[in-house]
Amino acid sequence: MADITDNFRVTSKVALITGAGGGIGRETGLVLAAAGAQVIATDIHADGLRETGALAAQQGYSPTTRVLDVSDPAAIHATVDTVVADFGRLDILVNAAGVMIMRDALDVTPEELDTVLRINVGGTFFACQAAGRVMSSGACIVNLSSGIIDRASRGRITYAISKGGVTQLTRTFALELGAAGVRVNAIAPGWVETGMTGQHFTDADGTVDHDKRADYVTMMASASPLARVGTTRDIALAALTLCAPASSFVTGQVVRINGGSAMA
Ligand SMILES: NC(=O)c1ccc[n+]([C@@H]2O[C@H](COP(=O)([O-])OP(=O)(O)OC[C@H]3O[C@@H](n4cnc5c(N)ncnc54)[C@H](O)[C@@H]3O)[C@@H](O)[C@H]2O)c1
Repeated sequence: MADITDNFRVTSKVALITGAGGGIGRETGLVLAAAGAQVIATDIHADGLRETGALAAQQGYSPTTRVLDVSDPAAIHATVDTVVADFGRLDILVNAAGVMIMRDALDVTPEELDTVLRINVGGTFFACQAAGRVMSSGACIVNLSSGIIDRASRGRITYAISKGGVTQLTRTFALELGAAGVRVNAIAPGWVETGMTGQHFTDADGTVDHDKRADYVTMMASASPLARVGTTRDIALAALTLCAPASSFVTGQVVRINGGSAMA
């Protein structure tokens, strides 16, 4: 019998990650690289990508980095075409790029709604479309939904709508790409401290209010039976598990990695 742990590796797989300039996307790139993948890390922010590349180099990996704005469908298609030209194929896509605008429903502007939908839904959609056109049997896509799909949440309606969209497009892509042997799943993380969620306790000038942060983290941890908040590593390991051969019969699912803060 072959080594059973091979089912949890992604050796030599070609993995494209959006939003890999920080947070969950960055950690997913590092974890997939550690599990054997050739990683192409993309983000709209070149600085974040440089940091990702430096961290990877410290750990002995050499990902390719490429600036990509996922609000531009043509740029997404061009990136996927370049990956296929350079590496011969695309085995894994992780859509981690995303934004959240904090605003009460009555105050949201058309521009804010458009921005969040264009990046979170459009970016994920067109990346799935571009990847789906070139992927072959055994390939897989992981999208980042959110725990927000399971509840109503004040002050972030555009984000909530967008993650509902990501959840639904995940299921449809899973249905339409299944015949080609391509799997499509989503992760719905509970609260993880990143640049995005730091908005709750960071001033406009970037100063962190440490008391507010401690209170916020305590509040989010209290929602979990495990009494802690999630880490980017928790989410990245879930992404690895979904991409690995061990999950070859898993598609169209929304996997909740939230410490039990919601049970669906
Ligand atoms: N952190 C959480 O608690 C949490 C919970 C649920 C879901 N998520 C989702 O996980 C994903 C990663 O979020 P995170 O928490 O790591 O946030 P983050 O802000 O640390 O990372 C998001 C990344 O997306 C990039 N990005 C933003 N706009 C982009 C664009 N137009 N094109 C390309 N890249 C762009 C940012 O530069 C950043 O590097 C997001 O989709 C987010 O909605 C996060």
